Amino acid sequence: MRQILNMDFDWKFHDGDIVCTNFNSVHEIFENPSFMKSANCGISKVGYNLHKWDDIKVPHDFRHYKSEFSENAVSSQGYLTTGIAWYRKEFFVPAETEGKSITVEFDGIFRDSEVYVNGSYVGNHLSGYTSFSYDISDFILYGENNAIAVRVDATKYEGWWYEGAGIYRDVRLVIADRLKVKYSGVFVKSEVRGNAGGIEIDVELENEAANNGDARLVAEILSPCGEKVGEFDTTIKLTEYEETCATIKGEISNICLWELDSPKQYKAVISVYLNDQKVDEYTQKFGFRTIAYTVENGFVLNGKPTKLQGVCVHDDFAGVGGAMSRSVIRHKIFLLKQWGANAYRSSHNPPSPYLLEACDDFGILVMDEVRLMSSSKEFLGQMTDLIKRDRNHPSVFIWSIGNEEMAIHGRKVGVKIGNHMLRVAHKLDPTRACTYANNGHWHDITIFHEQNGLHMDVYGFNYYCLRTFDMYERFHKKYPDKMIIGTENGSALSTRGQYLPRKGEDTADAYTKSSMKIMIWSNPERLYNISAYGEAYTTWGATPLETFRTAEPNYVSGYFLWTGFDYRGEVVPLDWPSTITRFGLIDLCGFTKDLGHHCRVKWSQEPAIHLYPHWTFDDNVGELEVDMVANTEEVELIVNGNSYGRVENPKWDIVKNFVKYEKGEITAIGYNNGVEVIRTGYKTAGKPAKINLEIVQPRDYVADGEDNVFVKVDVLDENGIHCPNADTLISFEVTGDGEFLGCGNGDPLDLAHEMNPSRNLFNGLALVIMKTKRHTGKMKLVAKSFGLESAEIEVDVTIPATDVLVESARSKTKPKAAEPEKDAADNAF
Ligand code: GAL
Repeated sequence: MRQILNMDFDWKFHDGDIVCTNFNSVHEIFENPSFMKSANCGISKVGYNLHKWDDIKVPHDFRHYKSEFSENAVSSQGYLTTGIAWYRKEFFVPAETEGKSITVEFDGIFRDSEVYVNGSYVGNHLSGYTSFSYDISDFILYGENNAIAVRVDATKYEGWWYEGAGIYRDVRLVIADRLKVKYSGVFVKSEVRGNAGGIEIDVELENEAANNGDARLVAEILSPCGEKVGEFDTTIKLTEYEETCATIKGEISNICLWELDSPKQYKAVISVYLNDQKVDEYTQKFGFRTIAYTVENGFVLNGKPTKLQGVCVHDDFAGVGGAMSRSVIRHKIFLLKQWGANAYRSSHNPPSPYLLEACDDFGILVMDEVRLMSSSKEFLGQMTDLIKRDRNHPSVFIWSIGNEEMAIHGRKVGVKIGNHMLRVAHKLDPTRACTYANNGHWHDITIFHEQNGLHMDVYGFNYYCLRTFDMYERFHKKYPDKMIIGTENGSALSTRGQYLPRKGEDTADAYTKSSMKIMIWSNPERLYNISAYGEAYTTWGATPLETFRTAEPNYVSGYFLWTGFDYRGEVVPLDWPSTITRFGLIDLCGFTKDLGHHCRVKWSQEPAIHLYPHWTFDDNVGELEVDMVANTEEVELIVNGNSYGRVENPKWDIVKNFVKYEKGEITAIGYNNGVEVIRTGYKTAGKPAKINLEIVQPRDYVADGEDNVFVKVDVLDENGIHCPNADTLISFEVTGDGEFLGCGNGDPLDLAHEMNPSRNLFNGLALVIMKTKRHTGKMKLVAKSFGLESAEIEVDVTIPATDVLVESARSKTKPKAAEPEKDAADNAF
């Protein structure tokens, strides 16, 4: 029966390539991976111990691990150097598994990888974003220790954002029968038929043995609470050593739908029987939901018109870089959900499988995107891998076949490539629509597409070129039956908590290298500082509120704001030493910026209001702009007891006041029907007195060595008021049943290594991420800073791990004392 083993632990890492250039002896040739002869790669030989190796676990981003910032490195990649590196791991495979199929599964390696097992070259993979697997059954030493080595070349980039490097997603070893369900080999097509649910399950079987004759496939359907609600089967004819595909059909009654506020999911447990003996069991989650795009009612989910309130996101986070554990990914999705977002665009690349799992679980719709618009064999292959892996997720509602391919999209070559991709995508998944994120003069380009025979299922438009907000309307007049989706919008910039220029940023020559700044700043007074007020946007951009207004008509399915979170890289319009973008509505640590609060407030079903700035400034700062954003009918600002009047709240705008700063208290109140329904405010903080630690989204933690605890760090004055300007240096120590993983503060200019256990607060905040160990217990975080009262918190790790790890290499029994270490190449044969 299938065993899925976690292979994330006990890896060794070597920074830099390992090349033997001077072939003096046959031994050296055998250690040179570029010398192509079977079992030549010494690096993946058991016992190979040349070179310096660090002990690490994956997910691992070696770019973040090294954190070598350099002004000469690529700005769009966050000024972090990259390179080539090697990973290796030794593990034991029991003798009784001989004759089974053994595969190794990689969820993602950035970027080009070569995999070797016990000296044999296994394969290479070019995409930094798609998942892949290798059958390594023939190379395994059964009943012995084995070694796997992975060479990762991250010197080529795929995007214009920070991309990490190395084995940055999970690795598994799968031991199964030679007759088994193929990797990504199940497609559950579900159909809502009134209260009933139709199911059609395509199963691809791999038959790596001399099995002829019939096999039986049985699919048990488990309801969201785990009850068996159906069983369906079919028989399939096997031919030795050949792949086959069969379809199991059935219907279940009284289904629960996958809804945004109740994302119910089912499981299909597929068993493969050969001669009445069960040889494989494969579980596939899926859901029931309906989707329609109608110009009359907009995007309709399960019969309900639903405006897509989405964000585009890149894949990194404070403290971990690109090495995002399942826990970090779920944390990001939780924050978006809590905040009212209902859609996520995996821009501009295939996401981690955990991202889709999280969106399925939290009820967030996903636009799943390929990396490149191309119909070459390589890229159609990448799209095929993406669709086959992701087409069971109820959260995935649309495929995006590309983003802003300006060099081809306005030409016939683009039409041909687009149509080729559409054909392949529709064949792989006839249940979902496709879009393409067109930009610039998309209005004219789309007319060109229509006239030349490229008919996108839903028209995806990025931005409104040069803020021509009537572009949707113009398009709708020309094509009244076509649906629009705002594939990318916004691109407003802001720095969390930075209401006034930072020291050194308020002079004309502070960023002389930035050529774009004049174009993008809308407020000349804030020319040299991307302030928290969020009034800066790109020439193609708009604020979130402008975006919401423009997307009101029903023929617009919704929008995807650029971006949900800050990410490393793409620091335009600034330059070194900025290493983090300012596009995020939430910063790199997960702390919401004011523009993010605009979204939270407008997306909230409950009365909501947001007020900024905080109320702790130098006494002589003078007049400050005070903004309120609310979803109530009226708002009122009160400063130190003085009301600025109760005013009507504009639907898509900010209420601004200009107030002479005096320390004290500031309050914003929202009213509906003349009655106060919500209020918020700040008090002026005194000097920092004590550190404060707060677990973000506390929950039960799993002792799997991979679960993470997120802790917000700030300082309070002696009355317990948060100090919003504090930049205190704080050191952290984690003891007990947990470890320090990383920290950050979201400051785009802070080049401190995020894996060092100390950090300055940035505008009052920092984040610490801890990691569980593989046993339950308690972990303790202590935070200290000179002159401040320390703080500590204890976290219970209560849930035992359920995953099974690949067995570590067994140490040889009875080692002969003082045996000299063998030359590495002696073990080659
Ligand atoms: C878009 C692009 C994004 C990002 C954004 C910044 O044109 O698709 O990847 O670069 O601009 O505004």
